[in-house]
Amino acid sequence: MTTTKSVFVCQTCGAEQPRWFGRCPAWDSWNSMVEGIRKKEPKRSAKSGLGAGTVRGPAGTPPADLGRMATGVVERIETGISEFDRVLGGGLVPGEVALLGGDPGIGKSTLLLQVTAALVASGVPVLYVSGEESEQQIHLRATRLGAVPEGLFVAAETDLEEILRHLVTQKPAVAVIDSVQTLRHAELGSMPGSVAQVRECALALIDHAKKTGMVILLVGHMTKDGMVAGPKTLEHMVDAVLYFEGDRYHHYRVLRAAKNRYGATHEVGVFEMKDHGLAEVPNPSETLLSDRAQATSGCAVVASLEGTRPLLVELQALVAPKAFSYPQRVATGFEARRLTLLLAVLDQRAGIDLSNKDVFVSVAGGFRLDDPAVDLGMAVAIAGAEAQLPLDSRTVYLGEVGLGGEVRRIRRAELRVAEAARLGFQLAVMPRANESECRALTRDAMEILPVRTLKEAIDAVLGPRGKVSRTRTTPAGASAT
Ligand code: TYD
Ligand code: MG
Repeated sequence: MTTTKSVFVCQTCGAEQPRWFGRCPAWDSWNSMVEGIRKKEPKRSAKSGLGAGTVRGPAGTPPADLGRMATGVVERIETGISEFDRVLGGGLVPGEVALLGGDPGIGKSTLLLQVTAALVASGVPVLYVSGEESEQQIHLRATRLGAVPEGLFVAAETDLEEILRHLVTQKPAVAVIDSVQTLRHAELGSMPGSVAQVRECALALIDHAKKTGMVILLVGHMTKDGMVAGPKTLEHMVDAVLYFEGDRYHHYRVLRAAKNRYGATHEVGVFEMKDHGLAEVPNPSETLLSDRAQATSGCAVVASLEGTRPLLVELQALVAPKAFSYPQRVATGFEARRLTLLLAVLDQRAGIDLSNKDVFVSVAGGFRLDDPAVDLGMAVAIAGAEAQLPLDSRTVYLGEVGLGGEVRRIRRAELRVAEAARLGFQLAVMPRANESECRALTRDAMEILPVRTLKEAIDAVLGPRGKVSRTRTTPAGASAT
């Protein structure tokens, strides 16, 4: 028989204590005690202790020889929502536990309700457990999303034991737990959402998924500065970590895989939040570029690689005389530190001094771009905003900018250029190091302007510094060969 008991464990030294201490008595570290459950194993006799010559009896599963193992095909449960399946690597794998994180109100419950409804429609048994909303509230949301299929079972429950009982009796192939922060393990004294509760409840659910082959999708809320303590510890335990993000005030939502044991990471799915739920955006570049302002200074189109898919998106920059004694730098959808770095490179390597100017930059559509290949586009947009000259709207900018002002090689340039050509772009300003791989591809469709440095790129598209005519509207880059 295995018995359980609540204990407090120091996260620094691992010492167990019967009660909580602010300062660990064994290690002297502050705030390191976390509640956990000690599983007492039945006492072993002295004979069964491990040591040289003491291991006897039948062994468990012997180690496997990978070289002789048959290649199995991973069976996947396709949800039918292809942007969701794409992020998972083609669908859900039986026994998989995935964590869906995101800010409150971003649309996690909406997405998973749509996913479960689509699964039910294709005959997959599901159970949606909500600790945040009542059955009536979920029904209301489901009717808003469209016809509610029969067989979409929901349970409003927070008690872990009850949830496990539902899973055993209902036997769904896919279960949603919304959210992991509301779960409560009866044997722990701490509040739902605490590290101990989240970890122990998730462990029990993961154990159930692995034993039965059930897919469990856990929802976890995130705060502005990243995941809250509970779900952060979950990231190591689950098979896949997906983030649902976007600007609440824009309607685009991006689903990203930060970890995936059954597929590629950093694959993204793009959705649009509408009145009747989330709609897939299969061609995000076209959608994003459709509402572009024409011939405005400070706008440049870049091709960011999101997973395996290039995303063409417009960057906007505004440079204004500083309003306060200290110049402001405001970045939306772009890392603030990278903006500061680009401004320093523009100053030191391209002679564009913005120390007395406020600089605002943003990514259109509420997207967040992490790909360093958008650096060149951002730097050129800022230079264009400062010179008050519009850039050619049929030019796309690719390249990472180094501290020396050099334009560095980017990965998968050919994919990005092909997408830009497909969308009717006529010129790609790109690193010289990537030129050869793109030349053959774009022989007729598109011109390439290879550059070695940021200054070279700026001079080509905006004219050499100091010789710029402020009334010019067509950039020199458009006629480059
Ligand atoms: P929700 O799925 O409840 O977010 P989360 O579970 O991540 O907290 O989404 C709530 C937001 O989505 C809310 O602000 C309303 C909006 N919404 C729509 O715009 N259209 C819809 O069809 C639905 C269901 C929600
Ligand atoms: Mg929710």
